[in-house]
Amino acid sequence: MPYSNFNLKAATCEQNALVQKSASEVLLKLISIQENEDVLDLCCGPGNVTRKIASLTDGKVVGIDISEGMVKEAIRSNSDLPNVNYFVKDAENLGFTNRFDVIYCNSAFQWFLNPKKTLEQCLEALKPGGRMGIQAPATAMYCPNFVAAEEKHFVILSRRVLRSKRIQPESSN
Ligand SMILES: C[S@@+](CC[C@H](N)C(=O)[O-])C[C@H]1O[C@@H](n2cnc3c(N)ncnc32)[C@H](O)[C@@H]1O
Repeated sequence: MPYSNFNLKAATCEQNALVQKSASEVLLKLISIQENEDVLDLCCGPGNVTRKIASLTDGKVVGIDISEGMVKEAIRSNSDLPNVNYFVKDAENLGFTNRFDVIYCNSAFQWFLNPKKTLEQCLEALKPGGRMGIQAPATAMYCPNFVAAEEKHFVILSRRVLRSKRIQPESSN
């Protein structure tokens, strides 16, 4: 889907996306935002989840989205929140350095044209020790990049866990 089509969805996103909404809540629980943490809502859409994030922390919350329509809707619907700012930005060119304790990204990773560059930008934007939570549809058809990254990193992670427990991994390919 071209980015510009998201502009048309800005005002109806919440009603249309029940799966995305329940996934966003699971991801919020998993990432466990603490009360003074600074958070980036990467690809915030119309700001529905950003509002929930802002209720969990007194830190600064920033929402970015490539769609001007989404950002306009986010600003309109969340104008009462003092600790939130929104910007129209491409996730591939964030331009933040050491700014956030948490980066939260729900239902957007599958749209990135260059996921590697986006993740590098996210690493740059995180404070030392910061963490990032990503939720995306994990099917090879919908999101092949995500599935490939998940498989690669899961294997690397499990090897690390095995090594830490002094167990020999089965294969090394
Ligand atoms: C399905 S919506 C999810 C919105 C929000 N995260 C949520 O859970 O309600 C996906 C969003 O990703 C945004 N998006 C896609 N590619 C992007 C990019 N490269 N940079 C920034 N935003 C992007 C779209 O404009 C859209 O608002």
